Amino acid sequence: MAKLTVQDVGEFDVPDGKRLVNALTDEAGTDQLHACGGHSRCTTCRVEFVEGEPEQMTAAEKETLEARGITEPGVRLSCQINCDHDMTVRVISRLEGSGRKDQGGQPADKIEPEPQWVSR
Ligand code: FES
Repeated sequence: MAKLTVQDVGEFDVPDGKRLVNALTDEAGTDQLHACGGHSRCTTCRVEFVEGEPEQMTAAEKETLEARGITEPGVRLSCQINCDHDMTVRVISRLEGSGRKDQGGQPADKIEPEPQWVSR
């Protein structure tokens, strides 16, 4: 079990290897957006890491962050991260206040596209 701490929400036990985007909704019960359904295309699943930011990222995440000009330290795509260690994040992209009709399509259990792990 990995421990997921969501600032101002609480601490949650998450099954090892679960996608962070799914843990944020299933375990933490937040209204985290994931408009593209977890395919590294929309960036609405972004979170800000406070602690435990993974060293590696998927090639898809790197490409999307670069293409969208997202360069803030600690800001990552939760659909491209597995909960395989303890981490603390801030939810910064929520349904509430977004004007969207829902959080987005349900992301699959495993990271899509098939991850190619690269350094930041
Ligand atoms: S980039 Fe769309 S859900 Fe992650």
